[in-house]
Amino acid sequence: MTDLVKTGLLRKNAFIGGAWRSSADGTTFEVSNPATGELIGSVANCGVTETRDAIDAAHTAFGHWATMPAAARAEIMFKWRDLLVSNADDLARLLTAEMGKPLAEARGEVLYGASYLTWFAEEAKRIYGETFPTAGTDSRALVLRQPVGVCAAITPWNFPNAMLMRKAAAALAAGCTLVAKPAEDTPFSALAVAGLADEAGVPPGVFNVVPAANPVGVGDILTSDPRVRKVSFTGSTEVGRILLRQSADTIKKVSMELGGNAPFIVFEDADLDAAIEGAIASKFRNAGQTCVCSNRFLVQESVADVFRDKLINRLSELKVDHGDREGAVIGPLINESALLKIERLVREASDAGACIQSGGARSDVGNLFYLPTVIDRVQPEMSIFKEEIFGPVAALISFESEADAVRLANQTEYGLAAYFYTQDLGRAWRVGEALEYGMVGLNTGLLSSASAPFGGVKQSGMGREGSRHGLEDYLELKYFLMGGLGT
Ligand code: SIN
Repeated sequence: MTDLVKTGLLRKNAFIGGAWRSSADGTTFEVSNPATGELIGSVANCGVTETRDAIDAAHTAFGHWATMPAAARAEIMFKWRDLLVSNADDLARLLTAEMGKPLAEARGEVLYGASYLTWFAEEAKRIYGETFPTAGTDSRALVLRQPVGVCAAITPWNFPNAMLMRKAAAALAAGCTLVAKPAEDTPFSALAVAGLADEAGVPPGVFNVVPAANPVGVGDILTSDPRVRKVSFTGSTEVGRILLRQSADTIKKVSMELGGNAPFIVFEDADLDAAIEGAIASKFRNAGQTCVCSNRFLVQESVADVFRDKLINRLSELKVDHGDREGAVIGPLINESALLKIERLVREASDAGACIQSGGARSDVGNLFYLPTVIDRVQPEMSIFKEEIFGPVAALISFESEADAVRLANQTEYGLAAYFYTQDLGRAWRVGEALEYGMVGLNTGLLSSASAPFGGVKQSGMGREGSRHGLEDYLELKYFLMGGLGT
């Protein structure tokens, strides 16, 4: 990459204990641009040695960082935030190169990532304890909130900046230290923010990044080393289950932000134009590659045809193109297996009687591009209804009554995000309460912000990120009884 203003942001080595390190065995892995297939660079391939070293560094740094005044930790985090913001254009270019999303979205992601530093730096100063009455007159009882310790963050490729910052900001605000393992498709964004952490004055060992071609080796160490007290993972439910099992032996705290199968319900009393805009935002952001993307559009029968036609019409405005080209809205999928999965889901649905109404094929823009697609007459038995699509495909199914809509919406093992559109206040309450999801949006297709508790129920995971609840996930409660105080 030659188009960075601050060329030093392109780092290829691991960041351990405040130093840039190649892997002990000298191996590297290649990272390519999904839009062009071109090589961006080769990155240090970390394994057991580097992961243990990073945990050592985080463990050593913990005592100092945890006891530093919260306001001092916050100051460093604000500096880090400022550096993310002032380098947002470069960070966005890196992100688009390694992940594919359009530049404007990438820049939005960087600012979204930075907003977690702002939020949690402010919250760091509000980690209050409690006192409560005791049975005796010579004692006093307190509840202290203390940092968990060394934490591990295993982060996904779909938001290489923001998902890392969401975890790192909460961990550092609480007084924890962190070892981060970025997704193998997108290590450059994580390494760039590590360089900025260093520049901001984050002490050595507080924030470490260990990229690896094979996540299994690093993940094994992070989940088995007893010094790591918490694992926070964003990714698939399948991998989350493995990490949960592995973390059980050393009884770690865990936060799991796993897969989703979000319903997007459109009732006949909805403002349909608003629903279309919400659908575009929630389905086609990041080319459909977010855990909170709408997966199933449940549309009341009386408005199903109008909604479908309006949606198809609106899709024609979404330009499929390389993320760094003017006007691009839908970038590439991350890799070949993502593309093959989408093709399988569309094919199986169509073979079983669903109708492809628009798109339904690869785009000729490049190898990993797929056209925004609308497929209707979907049925609950179809794999496209049950599985997370993770691509720009809107699957439409119609329903008769409110009860049917809620039943269909909850007919999944997942429970991350749900959206619904209605103008009826009674219905808004009823449906909002009945949806078995960790996050519900009424008359909006976007839910995420640093101040909101992000997370799911059922097989979408456990724990919350963002908000004051996200900070609690990095804190332990200590009951402290002080006796013998005299009467
Ligand atoms: C995700 O896909 O997991 C994150 C999306 C978001 O924060 O909006």
